[in-house]
Amino acid sequence: MKEYEKKYQLEEILTQEEVEAKISELAEILDKEYKDQNPIIIGILNGAVYFLTSLTQKMKIDLEIDLMGLSSYRNSSVSSGKVQITKDISRDIEGRPVIIIEDIIDTGRTLQYLTNYFANQKAKSVETITLLEKDVEKVTSKRADRALFKVPDVFIVGYGLDYANKYRNLPGIFEIKNV
Ligand code: IMP
Ligand code: MG
Repeated sequence: MKEYEKKYQLEEILTQEEVEAKISELAEILDKEYKDQNPIIIGILNGAVYFLTSLTQKMKIDLEIDLMGLSSYRNSSVSSGKVQITKDISRDIEGRPVIIIEDIIDTGRTLQYLTNYFANQKAKSVETITLLEKDVEKVTSKRADRALFKVPDVFIVGYGLDYANKYRNLPGIFEIKNV
């Protein structure tokens, strides 16, 4: 067990190697799917930055990246229920294929909000991809088009995901036990 796992009572669910391998597969799929289309790949801040970085570095086709800030969780492990835009994308997406990159889908509220938001902006297409999806039966207003991994309904940190703004830089995916 690594030092930080002991210190924070973390249990590794997915190793960095497992995550990177899945992202490589996804990169290959998207390279084929979006060949000659120059997609705009939009990462949702802050959780999706590692996923966005890793994915786009593995892709070989022409693409553009952008970032959008949204928050629904505020310094706790409990959802506040409200979604807010904290930073908007910085380009016109009309007529362009858009790929939205999320860290995790829990209730699906954030994704529902995003889907509505982009539907109004006349993108050519909108595909939603999440690194993690909580394996829950609870009210999921919206599922992602693709989810790389299913995780149990526990609080997850690492690979971009935080608890009270900490642990984003942990290399793998962990369950945090002491919340
Ligand atoms: P949803 O709107 O309930 O689907 O929540 C989505 C957002 O909540 C994600 O983009 C994360 O930022 C955050 N979130 C949900 N579950 C977790 C978790 O287990 N760990 C860290 N962040 C989470
Ligand atoms: Mg998020």
